[in-house]
Amino acid sequence: MSLAVLASGTGSILDAMVRADLPVALVVSDRLCPAVRCAVGHDVEALVVQRESFGADFDRVGYSAVLADRLAEHAVTMVAMAGFGTILGQPFHDRFAGRVLNTHPALLPAFPGWHAVRDALTAGVGVTGCTVHLATLEVDAGPILAQEEVLVWPDDDEASLHERIKVVERRLYVDTLRSILAGEILLESVFEGAKS
Ligand code: GAR
Repeated sequence: MSLAVLASGTGSILDAMVRADLPVALVVSDRLCPAVRCAVGHDVEALVVQRESFGADFDRVGYSAVLADRLAEHAVTMVAMAGFGTILGQPFHDRFAGRVLNTHPALLPAFPGWHAVRDALTAGVGVTGCTVHLATLEVDAGPILAQEEVLVWPDDDEASLHERIKVVERRLYVDTLRSILAGEILLESVFEGAKS
């Protein structure tokens, strides 16, 4: 497996993956961010494929095609999104179908979208969590590979709850990737099974 990690944030999940000796060959971001510095600090090749726009005129299809090309140039075989800030379009999912993973800070299908932690707090749930899943064109909707619950505390705010969720995500994502590497999770079967 030659793994590319796509990250746009602090990169704490990326950091956990590298420290766990997962075969992270490349880190890609859509902006300059701490995750890029994390990659450089670990001597992992980092690529910033800068978005030209974060507005309504963003060419999502064009960007997705460029990103897919750049990953193919690096002989990437699997992609792990870890807090990546761009929703990828058809050209990317066509190229890496069934080989793109994502982690989401809620128990999907509950609370999809960018504000999962805030939405869980607003809904007043007592339990939320995180989900590692195969990413498909439909955002936060691909087949689920692993989930774990996290209790919401009465005095939680978005930051405190998200940090406790991320503690779990770092372990769950690493464990899931290890299971894929060990052949205990067969992504092809999961992907094909979800289509039928
Ligand atoms: C994680 O909680 C991840 O689930 C979330 O961004 C965080 C990245 O943390 N991703 C999303 O919300 C995507 N919808 P990190 O930058 O510390 O690794």
